[in-house]
Amino acid sequence: MTLTVKERRMTPVSELIAVEHTDLYIGGAWSRGSDSERIDVQDPASGEVIASVASATLDDARAAADAAAVAAPAWASRPPRERAEILRRAFELMIRDKEKLAELMVRENGKPMAEARAEAVYAAEFFRWFSEEAVRNIGSLSIAPSGQNRILVIHQPIGVSLLVTPWNFPAAMATRKIGPALAAGCTVILKPASETPLTALAVAGLLEEAGVPRGVVNVIPSRQSSKVVAALLEDGRVRKLSFTGSTEVGRILLAKAAEGIVSCSMELGGNAPFLVLADADLDAAVEGALVAKMRNTGQSCVAANRFYVEAPVLERFTGTLADAMAKMPVGGGLEPEVKVGPVINRPARDKIAGLVERAVHNGAKVLTGGKAPDRPGCFYQPTVLAEVSPDEAILKEEIFGPVAPVVRFDGIDEAIAMANRTERGLVSYVYTRDLARGLRIAEALEAGMIGLNRGLISDPAAPFGGVKESGLGREGSHEGLLEFLETKYIGTGW
Ligand code: SIN
Repeated sequence: MTLTVKERRMTPVSELIAVEHTDLYIGGAWSRGSDSERIDVQDPASGEVIASVASATLDDARAAADAAAVAAPAWASRPPRERAEILRRAFELMIRDKEKLAELMVRENGKPMAEARAEAVYAAEFFRWFSEEAVRNIGSLSIAPSGQNRILVIHQPIGVSLLVTPWNFPAAMATRKIGPALAAGCTVILKPASETPLTALAVAGLLEEAGVPRGVVNVIPSRQSSKVVAALLEDGRVRKLSFTGSTEVGRILLAKAAEGIVSCSMELGGNAPFLVLADADLDAAVEGALVAKMRNTGQSCVAANRFYVEAPVLERFTGTLADAMAKMPVGGGLEPEVKVGPVINRPARDKIAGLVERAVHNGAKVLTGGKAPDRPGCFYQPTVLAEVSPDEAILKEEIFGPVAPVVRFDGIDEAIAMANRTERGLVSYVYTRDLARGLRIAEALEAGMIGLNRGLISDPAAPFGGVKESGLGREGSHEGLLEFLETKYIGTGW
């Protein structure tokens, strides 16, 4: 990948970086595809169109499925050590190019540079982790209770996999799926979000450089996403769907996948509660809250969406959080010192504004923020709302923005009941100095992941995923590899 960095700060991307890859990547070749119209990629900080990317049609999607199906047998039978070494090279190349990838993410997603750098490393780590997991496809052999035969269990690649990724973490959500799929011996078709296709295409360029054979990875941004994904789910050769996105879209894809009995791993929406107990280390709790709330300007499935604070520490925690959020500089991601970028687009900003307005109308108090700043671009001020009613809409919907609504609780049973009062169950955060109590609460919370005295739970070595309507399956860790493997039992007599 060659991105020539000419200049930083608020220069339009067209003058800032030469984006090498703006075409589809199918069967090891870069192609303009068969759609004459392309996807305009916009910088959410300025609204400027920064690149135009090829858009896959149904014919292009079929070509990608053909390429992935042709490449599948050779990739599946390649020694795991060789697959591991290719992934390891991809990790090293991503680290080599982390600065360029970070700039690309700032421009197409809007996240501040420091966060984009952190994401580039986080994303690369999925390749490193799964390069190590590629050689750990472990089966088992046991004796049947009758003693008559042996039970031999092996795990084989599930087959051609369709990976559908969101715009909020354009690099990490791609590598979190490509890494385990390739490690398991599957070939893939990646359909990145239309808002952020440049990073995914850049990652494809690095995989090519790392030695991934033709057809093993195919990347097809499309402005007809739903049609393209539906066609691939009907294709018959696609045996796996791994999706990260909203619960609403996930539900539609699950129904579609059911028609062809396609295996699904779904990482869907969250509505994370953040519990602060009276005995918590409040400085640590505020620090954790800032990460859990403000990472990626609040646009994360694992973002703290609702703060429940025990009465004796309510005022101190809320006041300190408001002071800290008020000091966070808002601006374009390439501006130095900026900590809070724009949200992805105008509808996202309007939704946030609507939720805040409604909560305030119903009696919530604005401690800081509470409106969009007076500047162009899709910005919203870091906002803390106190005295939010426990039934307020802002506590039921994923805010996906820099707004922290705070609710008081009296007693841990009330807090657990309020935290679990949602159909979602991705992550919950708990702050307490009493570890035993914290672990008991962690067991009672209905979530796939718990941050106990931690505001950041994401780690390639940990199983990431939710319960209830937050999803199916896990990504990262050894479990992430298993999602791309199928179990085969061989009843054996000897
Ligand atoms: C997400 O928001 O979907 C993923 C966040 C993460 O991996 O930390």
